[in-house]
Amino acid sequence: MTSPGIRLLPLVATAMLASPLVHAYDAGDLILRAGVAVVDPQDSSGNVRVGATELDGWEVNVDSNRQLGLTASYLVSDHFGVGLLAATPFKHNISGDGAALNGAGKLAETKHLPPTLTLQYFPLASGSTVQPYLGIGVNYTNFFEEETTPTLTGALGADRSTIELDDSIGLAAELGVDIALDERFGFNAAIWWADIDTEATIKGYDSAGNLKATGKVDVDIDPLVYMLGFTYRF
Ligand code: NI
Repeated sequence: MTSPGIRLLPLVATAMLASPLVHAYDAGDLILRAGVAVVDPQDSSGNVRVGATELDGWEVNVDSNRQLGLTASYLVSDHFGVGLLAATPFKHNISGDGAALNGAGKLAETKHLPPTLTLQYFPLASGSTVQPYLGIGVNYTNFFEEETTPTLTGALGADRSTIELDDSIGLAAELGVDIALDERFGFNAAIWWADIDTEATIKGYDSAGNLKATGKVDVDIDPLVYMLGFTYRF
C-alpha cells in the first residue's frame, strides 16, 4: 500500500517541472510595471546668451524629482519586446549655477513628461523566472507649466518674466530586470539614460508689458532615470 505522500510525489515533480513554463515570457505577453521613478539629471549648462553676447559664468542646473512610474513591455516574440516608459509629471527646480549665478538660488521651475519608447531584448530562455532585458529607443520630452521666480525677474531688472523650454527628442537606452514571484506578480528594477537637450528662452517685461530683455541658455539634462516597482503579467 502506498502512502498519500508517495502518491503526491509525481504530482509535485510534475508541477516543479511545469513551473518554469508558468513563468514563460512568450510572444503576445503584456507586462505592466508600476513603481517609484526618479529622474536624476546629469546636466550641463551653457552660458546664458543675450543676443550674441555670452554671459560668462551664467549657468543653470536642474534638480532631481521622484514620481509614480509606469512601464509596459509587449513581447512581439519570446526574446523581443516593445517597451514604453510613462509617469506622472516630473517637476524640477532650475537654479543658478556657474561662477556668476552659483548661489543665486531657484530661478525657475518646470514640469515635464518624458515618454520613452524602446525596442527590448530579453536574452534568457522564455521559461526563466529572472528576465533581464536591455532596450534602445527614443525619448520625447515635453516641458510645460514653466514658471520663473522673483529672483530671476529681479536679476533681469524686469517687472515680470517668463521662461520656456523647447521640447526634446533624443536617444534613450535602458537596462532592467523582471523577477517573477508567481505566474502574474513580480519585482522590477530598471535604469534608463535619455539624451534630453533643451534651449530655455527667458524674457523680461517692464510694468507696461514691453519686452526688455531676452536670454537663451542651452541645457543638456541627459538624466538617469531609476525605477523600482512591481510587475503584473497578462
Ligand atoms: Ni545631451
